[in-house]
Amino acid sequence: MHIVFAASECVPYSKTGGLADVIGALPRALAAIGHRVSVFVPRYKETHLNTTEPIVRSITIPFDDRYRFCSILAGGNHAGVDHYFVEYAPYFDRDGIYSSPVGDYPDNAERFALFCRAVLEASKVIGVPDIFHCHDWQAALIPVFLRSQYAEDPALQDVATVFTIHNMGYQGVFPPETLPLIGLPWDLLAISKLEFFGNVNFLKGGLIFSDIVTTVSRRYAQEIQTAEYGFSLEGVLHDRSSTVVGILNGADYEQWNPATDPLIAKNYSAKDLSGKEKCRVDLLKAFGFTDKDTGSPILGIVSRFAGQKGFDLFAQIIDRLVQEDMKLVVLGSGEKRYEEMFLRIQKHFPAKVLVKIAYDNALAHKVEAGSDMFLMPSRYEPCGLNQMYSLKYGTVPIVRATGGLDDTVDSWDARHGKGTGFKFADYNGESLLLAIKHALHAFRDKAAWQTIMRNGMKKDFSWEKSAKEYVRVYERARQTRGLIVPEVV
Ligand code: ADP
Ligand code: GLC
Repeated sequence: MHIVFAASECVPYSKTGGLADVIGALPRALAAIGHRVSVFVPRYKETHLNTTEPIVRSITIPFDDRYRFCSILAGGNHAGVDHYFVEYAPYFDRDGIYSSPVGDYPDNAERFALFCRAVLEASKVIGVPDIFHCHDWQAALIPVFLRSQYAEDPALQDVATVFTIHNMGYQGVFPPETLPLIGLPWDLLAISKLEFFGNVNFLKGGLIFSDIVTTVSRRYAQEIQTAEYGFSLEGVLHDRSSTVVGILNGADYEQWNPATDPLIAKNYSAKDLSGKEKCRVDLLKAFGFTDKDTGSPILGIVSRFAGQKGFDLFAQIIDRLVQEDMKLVVLGSGEKRYEEMFLRIQKHFPAKVLVKIAYDNALAHKVEAGSDMFLMPSRYEPCGLNQMYSLKYGTVPIVRATGGLDDTVDSWDARHGKGTGFKFADYNGESLLLAIKHALHAFRDKAAWQTIMRNGMKKDFSWEKSAKEYVRVYERARQTRGLIVPEVV
């Protein structure tokens, strides 16, 4: 099969979160099992390419006010995957991917509508795929254009679409006038289509116009059909629940493996854990800790700072948490209120809490390797990658039992020596504190702790299995469109 991926981020070219990791890794896993995969992303200022020579010179995008002319750059074939970049400097050659320090770019609707149309047009030149696999609201207009403006286009009629939700919290909601501006008909402003409380909702378009909807864990596939997690689209998802599929993300062990990681002080493995001690020393040094190390367990955090991630709970418990024998090491950036909160906490408890407000991949690896425990108290978490990385690094996750966190972490059962981490269910500070206390208690029994570490390190969340599940979904999407006749059983 030929699959075209369309997304707004892809490692190593652009990244703000886990979406980029997925778009960097899943296509490789699909290529490894024999599929042709092409990945399309915008070319941002942060995207470094060896070429500026376009493979498609000029694509005309007819917007209401005037035409825009973009081009496609080819980034080459890596691990069997072709990478293409939509080049339109007025929209993408900016410091941020989605926003400036004062907020979201006001023309995000046009930016990503142009991206979607460019992918459709470029595919006609570079090669029409069997599947468009579109990710999040930024690529959600591909199925919408395909079934409206392009419905009669003979070149694209036979392409099936799969839409993957990485996060229901970001939907791309814009005023109704957006429709004519980006060249979509007014009749899409209907409750059964893109209309959402009087506005236009791109994500909703993806959910309604794609052949199959997937999301990044089984648990989240159920959660988003409820009012608590559906961000007002639970009804839409519920209506098509037979075509909503949860496929767990994988972890890219080429990047995240303590046995081979070049970014950590010393490599180690489940067989020989000794290197982890050096990583601890290195981590404390990287965070500027100069006091004598008393060996207290280190609780690590690496995160985007957003409401989703549950850091409000820290404000409720920090006074009591710092009375425990532990150190908290925090690497993150994002919403100001959380940056300021962690800096305030560090100021109050400098011996216990070390904070770096930054986005720093090398440091993220050091936190994974040098910490004893990893905290993810998310309010919601579609999949979450860091807990999977933590498991591989023998850094025991403490997580809220939601979404992918619930699917990937098994509660420690001391009696049977089973389990890989610590979980809490209720979203409140007390429950988080209790889970941390359980973990700190377990940490004191060195033998038991090594069992938890090793149980986690043995877990295999590689992409191979998930890639095969995606292939089944692609086949189902093609069947849904009547493109392949299902086998008679
Ligand atoms: P989300 O996509 O919601 O942010 P994930 O757990 O899926 O959450 O993925 C987060 C990814 O971003 C991981 O690869 C993580 O290491 C990385 N990351 C998040 N914050 C930082 C940071 N401050 N510095 C470096 N990497 C970060
Ligand atoms: C989103 C989610 C995260 C998920 C990632 C990749 O950003 O917040 O849970 O792991 O996408 O699918």
